[in-house]
Amino acid sequence: MTRPQWIIKKDWLHERVRAVGRCINEAHGGGELTVVPVLTGALIFSGDLMHWIEDVSVRVQLAQAASYEREVPGDLKVDLSQVDRRHVTGKNVLIVDDILDTGRTMHELAGRIGSMNPASLRIAVLLRKRARHDPDCPVEPDYVGFEIPDLFVVGYGLDVDGLHRHWSYIGVWGQHLERNEHEQIVSDIQRQLGQPPQTALA
Ligand code: IMP
Ligand code: MG
Repeated sequence: MTRPQWIIKKDWLHERVRAVGRCINEAHGGGELTVVPVLTGALIFSGDLMHWIEDVSVRVQLAQAASYEREVPGDLKVDLSQVDRRHVTGKNVLIVDDILDTGRTMHELAGRIGSMNPASLRIAVLLRKRARHDPDCPVEPDYVGFEIPDLFVVGYGLDVDGLHRHWSYIGVWGQHLERNEHEQIVSDIQRQLGQPPQTALA
């Protein structure tokens, strides 16, 4: 199997996930939080993230979304059948997803969860591709791990055709970046490690 070019190293992912978790821990410390991981993409991120939300009573309610068929966006499917309203209505809720791409998935999810009247609703995404944002689907995430350019990426929960979610790093799929471009992307990602993951503070 040929390995793709990495753009986010394992250590950088861990450092950033910990920083996001610490912010969430601080925001909800001593209280309760219903975490809604959006499967399957949020599988790894949400698991690692929750380790750092140590001072909060966390309850997990799984959501399922699928929109990509290989690299081509397909119809959006959002399934909240496993989310128990009792753990959303009047509660502090955090939706966790791997990536905010066009924003269509999160717009739909946040709308549906918001209509269950949570006491507060926040959104954490590991990655955000601003360039692909759909203006008809406004979503403002509260916590962002890394902003990345418009590339198809794989690993740490993100898949291509159901594969490679278990990779410990994030790599580019389906294209080869020239050295200069790769260096620039990687240095921009590294620079973000020094910035707050809380978008309200950024
Ligand atoms: P959105 O609805 O366009 O924001 O798409 C969000 C979903 O598409 C994410 O939760 C991912 O599952 C998937 N997705 C978007 N970009 C990528 C990518 O670069 N690699 C793998 N999956 C992606
Ligand atoms: Mg997803």
